[in-house]
Amino acid sequence: MKKLEQLYEGKAKKVFKTDNADHYLIEYKDDATAFNGEKRGSIEDKGVVNNLMSAKMFQLLENEGVESHLVELLNDREMLVKAVEIIQVEVIVRNVATGSMVRRLGIEDGITLEPTVLEYCLKSDAFGDPIINDYHIAAMKLATEDEMKQIRDMAFKINEFMKETFIKLDLKLIDFKLEFGRFKGKIILADEISPDTCRFWEVGTNRKMDKDRFRQDLGNVKATYQEVLKKVQTL
Ligand code: TMP
Ligand code: ASP
Repeated sequence: MKKLEQLYEGKAKKVFKTDNADHYLIEYKDDATAFNGEKRGSIEDKGVVNNLMSAKMFQLLENEGVESHLVELLNDREMLVKAVEIIQVEVIVRNVATGSMVRRLGIEDGITLEPTVLEYCLKSDAFGDPIINDYHIAAMKLATEDEMKQIRDMAFKINEFMKETFIKLDLKLIDFKLEFGRFKGKIILADEISPDTCRFWEVGTNRKMDKDRFRQDLGNVKATYQEVLKKVQTL
């Protein structure tokens, strides 16, 4: 496999073409941003944690029948993935109210949400990833109704699996963000599953074990990412 020219650089990852048209190579960076890029910094070895953790999560989900873009973990910072066309919708699953949901709706922080809340955001840095609904998605032709049904079903299935999995590691899965892509006529899970894209609170103490440590300047950011990876590697 040959790493060819860079296709895209996002806030946390770079995507490269490879000599196989069906595969891209993703390189995870240490760069960290929050609040739509307003806060910038870096977390040492975050790229390694997010790459290794995402690969592990994708492998576990594959065993559960959830197809992902992962082809192969290449090294500490790189994975080979299927060359998906990313659907421009961020899918957020919320088990507990916190973060932007609390800021937007005034709901009490830390309250368990029943039922689990599914949110969609338009994937657009220029517009600050605004919340959208099924009607916007249909009218903007971001995805078909059938594709959205598949995405919804996958998101809830992933939530059930991840909740059960992380609780064994003494981590409560608060919320997370998923992205999906089209590949050879199928909808598959893409992007990453990491402390950047999930919130975890430690069972018993409610210690924040995710990117909120960076967002809110809580300290021990690097060590916490490493701690989460260590736990995930026992799975
Ligand atoms: P929020 O409460 O800030 O909207 O975040 C909800 C979840 O989505 C949280 O687990 C963090 C994740 N997330 C991303 O992965 N990328 C983003 O750009 C944002 C805003 C949130
Ligand atoms: N990654 C996002 C940004 O910088 C937001 C976040 O994760 O809080 O815009």
